[in-house]
Amino acid sequence: MKTAIIILGASGDLAKRKLIPALDRLFARGNIDTTSLIVGSGRTPLSHDEFRGESDCCKPFQEIMFYHQGISGLKTYVDSHGEFERIVIFMALPPKVYGSTAKELHAEGFGDETILVVEKPFGYDFESAVKLNSELTAEFDESQIFRIDHYLAKEAVQNMLVFRFANTIFEPVWNSHYIESIQVNCFEDLGVEGRAQYFDTSGIVRDMVQNHLIQLLALLTMEPPTSLSADSIRHQKRNVLEQLEVVDWCRYQCEEYRSEKGIDPQSNTETFASIELKINNLRWAGVPIHIRAGKYMNRKGTEIGVKFRKLPSILFNQNGDLAENRIIFKIQPAEGIIIDLSSKVPGADQKITGTTMKFCYSDHFGGSEIPEAYTKLLLDAIRADKTLFVSAEESELSWQKFSEVINDKSEPKFHKRGEVPADSCSIEWIDFESYGSICE
Ligand code: BG6
Repeated sequence: MKTAIIILGASGDLAKRKLIPALDRLFARGNIDTTSLIVGSGRTPLSHDEFRGESDCCKPFQEIMFYHQGISGLKTYVDSHGEFERIVIFMALPPKVYGSTAKELHAEGFGDETILVVEKPFGYDFESAVKLNSELTAEFDESQIFRIDHYLAKEAVQNMLVFRFANTIFEPVWNSHYIESIQVNCFEDLGVEGRAQYFDTSGIVRDMVQNHLIQLLALLTMEPPTSLSADSIRHQKRNVLEQLEVVDWCRYQCEEYRSEKGIDPQSNTETFASIELKINNLRWAGVPIHIRAGKYMNRKGTEIGVKFRKLPSILFNQNGDLAENRIIFKIQPAEGIIIDLSSKVPGADQKITGTTMKFCYSDHFGGSEIPEAYTKLLLDAIRADKTLFVSAEESELSWQKFSEVINDKSEPKFHKRGEVPADSCSIEWIDFESYGSICE
């Protein structure tokens, strides 16, 4: 299919760091070819060569790259290069202009052939998300709007679905009869890194939990989809989001945060949060779910822990000290799945020890390239495959569920950089760090 790809905000950071290199990779792999057209557009006046020179792309790819200043005349400019059956427009723009830009694009003549790709944040809260969605759908059909959540494109996240639904052994135990609790952990060692203005009005719940981590949870807990179609998967994610309830939360701030450049010295924005949730359906009733996310930690790591119920105090567990089984999904930086089991220590005694079974991407697929999230997402947008994109309903529902948490403006508790705050939402967290070296 002859495709044009337009990047609005082409001289911005996202375009330079992520989008153009991702398109260059797709070109190198043959997913886009010389019949395609790449148009960068922005407010800055740039020549085609200046635009091409802004990123380090291969020469033949540069030859299909062009620059057009502003949105006015953009459709005519694209048409002057031929007829395109699909036009993918990536809005690498501040979210506040998404609505007005969609209007301008529609007025320019972009119609049914258009796919509009937008980045998070999709709104600031429930009301603004509804407003944004209605502004976008006033100009383009919902089927043309692709909301990116780059966590969905992570290989280990997609593998959670395969793990759950392509293996017979997990589905029968994937419920409250066997699972005692679920924990989602997401630590970053960096702070706000030049995004002070954005982060201080956002906080970790808006930035990471309400979107990325809730999407992970939805994939982990949703009912089996009726097919692998985007609609079917999104339908099941939507259902589970609807049944989600926030039970409790604790907010923390790193001690260094208020003195960061660009941060309000009295800011109450949370840089770390721990949230307890439940899912009110037959499968998950009674299973506590905890999510915690934080910047300024001592490591970067996203993991999900599924704790199985303890055995009754009989047989090998007479003393009740046999560890429960666990499944740990290591999402990043090293991808893998670990299962904690009990096993006999060789010898005459009946001694039992904990042992792990592991599947590590590096061991099994060591030589193969794990595609970078934007490469995958752009290719899906070009192919109009919405599976890894978030629907309007999903985004609105997750804002709605977190309304109380994001409106909590009370002073957070403080913690030292690199230290996991002593958790007042007292639960026993899995020591995810102890799985650190596995799969690395
Ligand atoms: C972004 C957040 O969506 O995800 C950032 O805005 C965060 O604050 C980033 O650092 C984390 O992404 P990843 O893929 O590095 O875990």
